[in-house]
Amino acid sequence: MDRRRFVRALAATAVLPSRAKAQSAPLTRAIPKSGERIPAIGMGTWLTFDVGDNAAERALRRDVLQRFFAAGGGVIDSSPMYGRAERLLGDLLPQVEHAGKLFAATKVWTAFERVGPTQMAESLRLWKLARFDLMQIHNLLAWRGHVKAVRAGKDEGRWRYIGVTTSHGARHDEMAVALKSEPWDFMQITYNFADTSAEPLMNFAAERGIGVIINRPFDGGRLFNRVGARKLPPWAAEIGCENWAQFFLKWIVSHPAVTCAIPATTNPAHMEENMGARLAPLPDHAMRRRMQAAISSS
Ligand SMILES: NC(=O)c1ccc[n+]([C@@H]2O[C@H](COP(=O)([O-])OP(=O)(O)OC[C@H]3O[C@@H](n4cnc5c(N)ncnc54)[C@H](OP(=O)(O)O)[C@@H]3O)[C@@H](O)[C@H]2O)c1
Repeated sequence: MDRRRFVRALAATAVLPSRAKAQSAPLTRAIPKSGERIPAIGMGTWLTFDVGDNAAERALRRDVLQRFFAAGGGVIDSSPMYGRAERLLGDLLPQVEHAGKLFAATKVWTAFERVGPTQMAESLRLWKLARFDLMQIHNLLAWRGHVKAVRAGKDEGRWRYIGVTTSHGARHDEMAVALKSEPWDFMQITYNFADTSAEPLMNFAAERGIGVIINRPFDGGRLFNRVGARKLPPWAAEIGCENWAQFFLKWIVSHPAVTCAIPATTNPAHMEENMGARLAPLPDHAMRRRMQAAISSS
């Protein structure tokens, strides 16, 4: 072997094990309050899981769920606001292999404080679970009224964490008030290439040890329309992106305040693409800026 080939072979053996490890390591994030690690890519169920008795529609969602867990997914976000989604989850979860993986997150969503406890109990019944991992107050709706029952549910072991949500850039001032007022474990908020207005709140939450869940990571799907048929920039390969979904998601979960992003899909192939974002490497600060500039120019 000549010297050049020897050096190349040596370099390959030195680099390969760590590179292989980095590429296969699924991204997890620590929940700031507990240190428990959860997968950084979860899934949402708004619209996508609002399905009734149609067997073909249900089978498609079953496939979505199966691929989600098979790819190392865990966090599923729902709400009584999402029509039949909680019922569907209760029907499908026993049909897919997810032992030790599910991190079940739902919400209370009613303007009436007295209805909150009944609604949260109904959600447990629909999901067919003994407890949730996370109970959130949806869209800050009547949050001052619900907070006592949400806290009591945590104290009594009906869920392990509590949180509060908003979306679409709405009610950030009220969210700031809520974050200062209660010992939340999580805040859920919208953050994506089309809407970065949550950044100050995300940083504020992180400083206070509150986990950050990102909803609408694809701007409800509009980001795909924005890039259209455009090819990924060649440098996206440096951060392991094979498609735009991974480009959008890796940019989000590489923000230091983010614990988890929850993209939603009805399409099993899209689920595979989305879960591909759970693998290293992630963009650093300079690369995030480059990604943002690439989207801004589209
Ligand atoms: N206030 C709140 O608490 C609040 C508010 C909004 C949302 N959320 C939560 O956040 C979740 C996510 O937000 P979202 O559902 O509004 O929007 P999103 O996840 O930003 O976008 C969903 C859309 O993206 C499309 N999509 C997904 N993966 C794709 C892929 N790989 N390629 C192409 N298209 C893809 C989906 O279509 P296909 O079905 O064709 O894949 C769907 O139309 C919700 O489901 C919900 O759980 C919470």
